[in-house]
Amino acid sequence: MAQERLDKLLSSTGRWSRREVKELIRQGRVWVDGVPARRPEEKCEPGAAGLTVDGERVDCAPFVYLMLHKPAGLVSATEDPRQPTVLELLPQHLRRVGLFPAGRLDKDTEGLLLLTNDGPLAHRLLAPRHHVDKTYFVRVDGELDGADAAAFAAGMMLEDGLACLPAGLEVLEQPDTALVTLHEGKYHQIKRMLAARGKPVVYLKRLTMGPIMLDPALERGEWRPLSAEEVAALRQA
Ligand code: URA
Repeated sequence: MAQERLDKLLSSTGRWSRREVKELIRQGRVWVDGVPARRPEEKCEPGAAGLTVDGERVDCAPFVYLMLHKPAGLVSATEDPRQPTVLELLPQHLRRVGLFPAGRLDKDTEGLLLLTNDGPLAHRLLAPRHHVDKTYFVRVDGELDGADAAAFAAGMMLEDGLACLPAGLEVLEQPDTALVTLHEGKYHQIKRMLAARGKPVVYLKRLTMGPIMLDPALERGEWRPLSAEEVAALRQA
């Protein structure tokens, strides 16, 4: 595998900016094969076992995986001529590594959005054949009840022709709120299903996608790299 500059390699993990990598190297915290690195231009193999920061091995896989707590008001796209996109929440160095959202959320929906540049993995996660479950917290204008849960469980056929697979709806303590679990991802699906029940959505937030749970430590607009365990779990999903 071609060697890469240390600053490029370490910043591509999403954990540090290039400036921070420079500082880590200056402080002697980056080691390559048992020797402290001295310059950010030094080269190293992306998969090298001997690359450590503060004594901890850093896995510079060729792909980047991030979880973002998407706020309302941004579109889940890499570019848009008129509206701000979720990529604008990322620092410059991460806007240049080909990240894209693995699955969309509506502009007004909040919550868990995965961003990666691993096309094959994203494709697998989103393919109907492999579809991973997604759960959402929802608030509606109205009161949800057992009849709504039964309609979701039976699989709804909407007037606009959308045939929905059976889905979960668990009414929470406040009856205008629920947890919804989808096994597919059609355009505006939850809004359309609940509108068909006469209970329009007023707030929607994605909490999980397959094995990945929105990190409660992330405020709206914040992101973090997925851990190695989370990436492995996604691969197995
Ligand atoms: N269902 C919706 O209606 N909107 C979303 O953003 C996600 C699921």
